[in-house]
Amino acid sequence: MMTFKHAARALHSEAKSSGMTPLNGKFIVFDGGEGCGKSTQARLLQQRLEAGGARVLLVRDPGSTRVGEMIRGVVLDPDHGEIVMRCEMMLYMAARAQMMGEIILPALADNQVVICDRFVSSTLAYQLGGDGLSADEIRAVAEIALRGRWPDLTLIFDMPVEHSRNRVRAKFEQRTETLFGEQVKVVKDRIEQRPEAYHEQVRQNYLAQVERDPERHKLIDGAHPVERVHQHVVQAISQVLGLDL
Ligand code: TMP
Repeated sequence: MMTFKHAARALHSEAKSSGMTPLNGKFIVFDGGEGCGKSTQARLLQQRLEAGGARVLLVRDPGSTRVGEMIRGVVLDPDHGEIVMRCEMMLYMAARAQMMGEIILPALADNQVVICDRFVSSTLAYQLGGDGLSADEIRAVAEIALRGRWPDLTLIFDMPVEHSRNRVRAKFEQRTETLFGEQVKVVKDRIEQRPEAYHEQVRQNYLAQVERDPERHKLIDGAHPVERVHQHVVQAISQVLGLDL
């Protein structure tokens, strides 16, 4: 007799062989402080899912649209020191609204898996408290930018700030890196230039988000070797979304 478990397994392998994945139409965010390995891990998950036949959209926030990349240039330019915190928050949200409308919502409607490198969770970590901005205010603006479609799961990559800042320092010593297929010059952006204490607060703001909403956030220890962290990512997605990846 075919049990429910057998049926689910059969459906799952059928889905796999037909290029479907249980993650179809899901929206997953990879976030955390600089140098914590989130972008590497986002690419690894993309490769794993695509190898299984899934259609995956990998995007970075801010960016990934023409307008979003222009806003990214404005908000991260170290020469734009005069940008006030509320403008900074709105610029990130504007880039995000464009990315949602232009590519993320259509991809989700098309049943693709969307992996996003940073998202609202970054604003709730980096802009929270600046010029008195509260989490409720940031969430209210995000609700408009996202049209109410929040991520299904946000993975927060965490490691001690000293450790992640050392990784960032090593990146600057190399001077160039490959980002989204392009070789780019590495210069400290407006946010990266902020002092160590700011980045420590950013870390605490990320941890607070996991504590506040553990159903949609999962903490990943980024200090382990890349392959081990990847296993933790797969486990976390399987567990939180109730899937067998
Ligand atoms: P990255 O995409 O190369 O990590 O750089 C983006 C920078 O922008 C990084 O320093 C974090 C910062 N940031 C914010 O301050 N708020 C946000 O909402 C987002 C998405 C990024």
